[in-house]
Amino acid sequence: MKFFIDTANLQEIQEAQNLGVLDGVTTNPSLMAKEGISGKDNIIAHYKAICAIVDGDVSAEVISTDYEGMIAEGEILAALDEKIVVKVPMIKDGIRAIRYFSDKGIKTNCTLVFSAGQALLAAKAGATYVSPFVGRLDDISFDGTELIEQIRTIYDNYGFETEILAASIRHPVHILKCAEIGADVMTGPLSAILALLKHPLTDIGLEKFMKDMAGKWN
Ligand code: G3P
Repeated sequence: MKFFIDTANLQEIQEAQNLGVLDGVTTNPSLMAKEGISGKDNIIAHYKAICAIVDGDVSAEVISTDYEGMIAEGEILAALDEKIVVKVPMIKDGIRAIRYFSDKGIKTNCTLVFSAGQALLAAKAGATYVSPFVGRLDDISFDGTELIEQIRTIYDNYGFETEILAASIRHPVHILKCAEIGADVMTGPLSAILALLKHPLTDIGLEKFMKDMAGKWN
């Protein structure tokens, strides 16, 4: 299972990269705005800075919603770095744009996916990744991981190569559940990744080991 970090914050991306378990980054317009990034030149510079930190794929989302606009923006973004994945919303023009990018060999991430039907369409259009939003489904009292399970079954039935990128991950249990189901990728905040480290018995055990061997190295 690949671990992506869902942020546009350079310090958090660097911290996850330093941990040695980071496979990529996802961003979205809200995450970019949170970092105070606006204007074409600043947006481009920020994506370049992210690509300089990580080794894997970096999802950069278009902010147009019409076909021509998405193509124009996506081509600029894709040309920035080979790590860039053009993130496109699950709308009619978005599906057309994904087909266009896919035919040109440009990687895509179909975002804002909340149903298996949408995921099936994204795969048919040739999306590299599909992003079902687990946490936002939980927010409306639907178990978001059930959607991951449904998409896994459908993709496996037909051998679709589109990778299931479980998005809107909020906590470590989401990560574990998605891993059990067989999501290809999860994207979440640094806090969810670091929470996987935690166990009270680890802390208690380590404290005892340190106490028992204190001063015995030299
Ligand atoms: O990047 C898309 C998704 O991961 C957003 O997550 O926490 O805003 O629902 P969240």
